[in-house]
Amino acid sequence: MDAEVFQSLKNLTHGLAPLVELFHTDPSRSQWLTVDACGIHADFSRQRVNKGLYEALIHSADIADIQGSFKKMMTGDIMNVTEGRAVGHVALRAAAASSPLAQQASGQLQRAKALADGVRWGAVTGTTGKPFTTIINIGIGGSDLGPAMVTRALRRFANGPVVKFVSNIDAADLDEALHGVQPETTLIVVSSKTFTTLETMHNAERARQWMQASISNWADHFVAATSHAEAALNWGIQKDRCLEFFDWVGGRFSLSSVIGFPVMCAIGGDQFDEFLAGMSEMDHHAVTASSERNLPVMHALIWWMNSALHSFPTVAVLPYSHDLSRLPAYLQQLVMESNGKSVGVDGHSVLGGSSPVVWGESGTNGQHAFFQMLHQGTQVVPVEFVTTAASLGTDDEAHDLLIANVIAQSEALAAGRTNSEPHKSFEGNRPSTVLVLDELSPRCLGSLIAMYEHSATIQGWLMGINSFDQWGVELGKILAVNAAKAIAFGVSEDDQTMTHPLLNWYISIRKKLPRNQ
Ligand code: F6P
Repeated sequence: MDAEVFQSLKNLTHGLAPLVELFHTDPSRSQWLTVDACGIHADFSRQRVNKGLYEALIHSADIADIQGSFKKMMTGDIMNVTEGRAVGHVALRAAAASSPLAQQASGQLQRAKALADGVRWGAVTGTTGKPFTTIINIGIGGSDLGPAMVTRALRRFANGPVVKFVSNIDAADLDEALHGVQPETTLIVVSSKTFTTLETMHNAERARQWMQASISNWADHFVAATSHAEAALNWGIQKDRCLEFFDWVGGRFSLSSVIGFPVMCAIGGDQFDEFLAGMSEMDHHAVTASSERNLPVMHALIWWMNSALHSFPTVAVLPYSHDLSRLPAYLQQLVMESNGKSVGVDGHSVLGGSSPVVWGESGTNGQHAFFQMLHQGTQVVPVEFVTTAASLGTDDEAHDLLIANVIAQSEALAAGRTNSEPHKSFEGNRPSTVLVLDELSPRCLGSLIAMYEHSATIQGWLMGINSFDQWGVELGKILAVNAAKAIAFGVSEDDQTMTHPLLNWYISIRKKLPRNQ
């Protein structure tokens, strides 16, 4: 963003009246700061923004040509400039005829859905002919967080095999997943865009050994979801079990690609199509709605305003939906890996700072843990409540109580309460957004996830950064390889590093510890 535009926006935040007063002087704010789109009711009215600032923000989105960037993204322009790639996740849920990228990808998802349905119906079985009753997805980051979050969120639609997720290099993760599971009826999915990721390849190798111990045709029990088919085939994956996607789908944006295979196994191809239809509906809304009624644009502007203009360093995403409990973890990667960058594509420092820290926990649990700080702490934390209008149908009274708590907390944060005893005073003026899905269905969830994808992307465009690379994860990976070598050989060569004493300490203590495989 242009420095002058940034400064003028920043100036508009100075002397902003408190939320109570903003509501007093303009009760209509609950209309113009509320939008209904694609099965989501979004209420931004308790955010620290007045009409003047909001209009200026919308204008800045128009100047930044957000809609133009969207169109470029959809027509396959090289938007990921540091890696020289198009950014095509939206094409995965569009009609094949709609773009060259969609055309290229058509067929990939069909294959994955056919395989998943084959597994579900028992047409695709293990070596002994028994149907698969357990699917274990081995993947990390974008090859884990999205499918794991959705599988959990849509658990009520699951009618296939049990689907488990293993991501951590800590052996405890795979140990737990394999506990009590029979190799004969287990299908392992190795999900890795690059098919090189240390954690995934290590766990996949261990899972293969576990499988080989009782099943000679181990490959009958393995599927890969990857954009590096050659590496997967070399590893031993059978050709008809290798599900491919293109490298122009970013890891954290890959939920609508074959990376969704475990979700398809859980809920079936048709329900997965519903999820994609929800995403596609939101995609359409994002490119067609005017900026001031455009949910992803409004959402992105509010998040960007809070971090860049109000300088609030974190945002708490609080799903008031037990089944959405993995949403904060999923959003951490989507937002922070996309936008946690200090320099823009022009090489200059980002104005106003980059991504906020995203954190969160399900409500109402959080109320009995960290809400004290949200209400009376010295740091202001913008809160995003995410809930559903329809109950799960098992306890409507509990659902009403859940919603009552969302409304009460949002009111308490914004309005506060004065008391002659300071420790009983609530300052108020604490911003929050409420997002209400019609229901926790595949379609509404698809809309919500596409909304977040677009919001993260738009925030990146506002900051002038490339949201689609992740160079910041490289250094640690390189150093881990060096440290692993030093540990394996029992000598650390570089005595100049700050961690040399720690590494040496571990090398010496390791010699005294019993060794397992
Ligand atoms: O280390 C970061 C990262 O590259 C993420 O961007 C990605 O989602 C994750 O690792 C897993 O990568 P892969 O799917 O290639 O195994």
